[in-house]
Amino acid sequence: MTGDTTVSGISIGILGGTGDQGKGLARRFALAGHPVLIGSRSAGRAQEAAESIGSGARGAENAVVATEADLVIVAVPYDGHKALLESLRTELAGKIVVDCVNPLGFDKQGAYALPVEEGSAAQQAAAVLPDSRVVAAFHHVSAVVLMDPAVEKVDLDVLVLGDDREATDTVQALASVIPGVRGIYGGRLRNAFQVEALTANLISINRRYKAHAGVRVTDV
Ligand SMILES: NC(=O)c1ccc[n+]([C@@H]2O[C@H](COP(=O)([O-])OP(=O)(O)OC[C@H]3O[C@@H](n4cnc5c(N)ncnc54)[C@H](OP(=O)(O)O)[C@@H]3O)[C@@H](O)[C@H]2O)c1
Repeated sequence: MTGDTTVSGISIGILGGTGDQGKGLARRFALAGHPVLIGSRSAGRAQEAAESIGSGARGAENAVVATEADLVIVAVPYDGHKALLESLRTELAGKIVVDCVNPLGFDKQGAYALPVEEGSAAQQAAAVLPDSRVVAAFHHVSAVVLMDPAVEKVDLDVLVLGDDREATDTVQALASVIPGVRGIYGGRLRNAFQVEALTANLISINRRYKAHAGVRVTDV
């Protein structure tokens, strides 16, 4: 587990925070008392999203959020992932950058994992951001569940992967501020592909069972 790591008071920025995933995470972290900064390509859209979240969340352009936040979550579609991170290399230097991007394609058979030249979206982030501490996490959380006020406890383990122990400890502790959630260390960044790809299986499960399925790790 994460031992004595505390994330109390750290501010959380979310790139692409105007989307379902970003807003869902923003809502839960704001409710847990963290200063939250929603990022967007448009300051206006970011402010609108922040107002809809409430609990003191603020909105700004992605570059401002990347500069101001202590820890930054990347919640944009895989299509825009590499270019956005390339444009924010300086702002994100020295920071923990949490990548939750699932490179997926969709066809008549449903969702499937896309190949990524660097190995995974998280490894792509690490390649583009050599001066940041890239961690992979939050791939399997359902934005619908995060946004649902009726769901007080989210029944889910968040797999946290990375090569920097202090950074993965921090992100595990951050995941655990969401009631019901445990942050579980899931290995080095080179193993992020299958964690991202597993989301395709979860989407198939959700379609068959009309659910918002998550993952629990036993015996830890
Ligand atoms: N939805 C989920 O339940 C869920 C769960 C786990 C992981 N994820 C992952 O989280 C990420 C975001 O998911 P989402 O459903 O929230 O996606 P989304 O709504 O399609 O996109 C999120 C935000 O990204 C920004 N964006 C879109 N295209 C962009 C581009 N080319 N460059 C820069 N920014 C762009 C947009 O914000 P602005 O237009 O305001 O800039 C948009 O509101 C995805 O990679 C997904 O795999 C999603």
